[in-house]
Amino acid sequence: MAVIGVIGTGVMGRGIVQLFAQAGHELRLYDTSPEAVAEAARFVAGMIDRQVAKGTIDAMAGESVKGRIIPCTALADLAGCEVVIEAIVERLDVKQQVFGELEALVGAECILASNTSSLLISAIASKCAHPERVAGLHFFNPVPLMKLAEIIPGVMTAPIVTDRLKALVEGAGHRAVTAADQPGFLVNHAGRALYTEGLRVVEEGVTDHVGVDRIVREGLGFRMGPFELLDLTGLDVSGHVMQSIYDQFLQDPRYRPSALIPPRIAAGLYGRKTGRGFYAYPDGQKQEPAEAGVPAAKHPIWLGEGVDIEAVTALVTNAGFTLVERPDDPTDPALLLALWGEDLTSAAVRLGLDPTRCVAIDPITDFERRRTLMTSPVTRHAIVDAAHALLASDGTKVSVISDSPGFVAQRVLAMIVNTGCEIAQRGIASPDDIDAAVRIGLGYPMGPLALGDRIGAARVLAILESLQRVTGDPRYRPSLWLRRRALLGLWLGQQAV
Ligand code: NAI
Repeated sequence: MAVIGVIGTGVMGRGIVQLFAQAGHELRLYDTSPEAVAEAARFVAGMIDRQVAKGTIDAMAGESVKGRIIPCTALADLAGCEVVIEAIVERLDVKQQVFGELEALVGAECILASNTSSLLISAIASKCAHPERVAGLHFFNPVPLMKLAEIIPGVMTAPIVTDRLKALVEGAGHRAVTAADQPGFLVNHAGRALYTEGLRVVEEGVTDHVGVDRIVREGLGFRMGPFELLDLTGLDVSGHVMQSIYDQFLQDPRYRPSALIPPRIAAGLYGRKTGRGFYAYPDGQKQEPAEAGVPAAKHPIWLGEGVDIEAVTALVTNAGFTLVERPDDPTDPALLLALWGEDLTSAAVRLGLDPTRCVAIDPITDFERRRTLMTSPVTRHAIVDAAHALLASDGTKVSVISDSPGFVAQRVLAMIVNTGCEIAQRGIASPDDIDAAVRIGLGYPMGPLALGDRIGAARVLAILESLQRVTGDPRYRPSLWLRRRALLGLWLGQQAV
């Protein structure tokens, strides 16, 4: 059992108290607001009582957990702690001052940890006489349920400090990952891709926010799309984080935020908490526009490059469409392609096909849940309607989007993989930690490196190269981690020897 101090007993502090008290440690709670301390002690006791009532822990154990939670009235009461975790207001000057005061109180062996999500650990430690004892210990909300903590050594932190924090976190049943003292650490860095690419897709006019969310959720199996997530975390908070990480990476276009955000913040459309963000929330429930109706159209069809012939031929037969053998058939058929990375305009030109009759399907999305149909700027309405009707003929939902290299799903996934690769390339975290942190901290179905390996590193590289070539945007430049492993045929999770 360790004696652990928690300073700042708000949302995060009280979660940290619950986690470690339940892991058998003694917790001392301090906050400049005595009510916050009392409230946190009450809150945690309530959580324990609920577990006792549900039978998850027995009454004796519950009482002993509560007995280990000690409200304090002065910072000096934390003098005997072996570890102090700070979860106060996110201001560098205030944190530096608190760490300075703490150093004068605690023993030489005491570890000082900060739960900051955006400040540099090295900056917080910089005013300490012993910066080697300071580290980041970043939890996620709600702490007991989000079973992950990032351990962040500052530039001066001693390895024994991070080792002890790791043991403490793992002893409480959470996964500990180690991340370098870099912008966004690991999870908030890895999370940039989904937001910024979702916004980029909308800015480019490929589809709207509803379209992106549906494709990410149903086509890719994510719990939420980027715009639902923005509404949940609040545009004021997320918009600030987006800008801050971009600035801290010295305006690297990979992290570029979006011009779509500031006007919405100015208008007060923060998301759920203000009743309206990208979506409206009358009575707290998200209002999602109805799905576009399926047109009643038919047209002869030719299946071209990349199309899953078996699956689509079955649809064609069941829907009573006519399948033709040649793209220049006299019936003027719709020309259906399946593309990896390439936009439809480029594919039509490359293959010498009539772009007014071309449509493409994204082979990456879950064919049984949602299909994405891409059009060129000149695809005829009758062709789009017929292809839509065909793809929806077995009741599966269809998203119709404008021309885009990598559709929506491929480009979002490729950016998630590339960001994970860049975190590995920069040595911010190990491949195992990257994948675990993203799965647990962001709730993605897989970590970015495992995801890249599932699609194939070479394919992800090709999608990014196409995006970079077609858009001319250095945002899409592939990480060296990805390029080298793709060329060498290695797994993305593979460390250098
Ligand atoms: P909060 O506002 O709920 O609680 C902060 C508490 O700190 C308040 O009770 C306040 O009275 C107290 N406080 C402020 N200055 C103090 C001082 N000088 N000495 C002692 N107590 C002081 O804030 P929250 O959300 O719990 O965040 C705390 C820290 O955790 C921040 O650094 C934040 O960036 C970080 N964080 C927050 C997450 C979240 O989802 N809310 C997630 C991960 C990290």
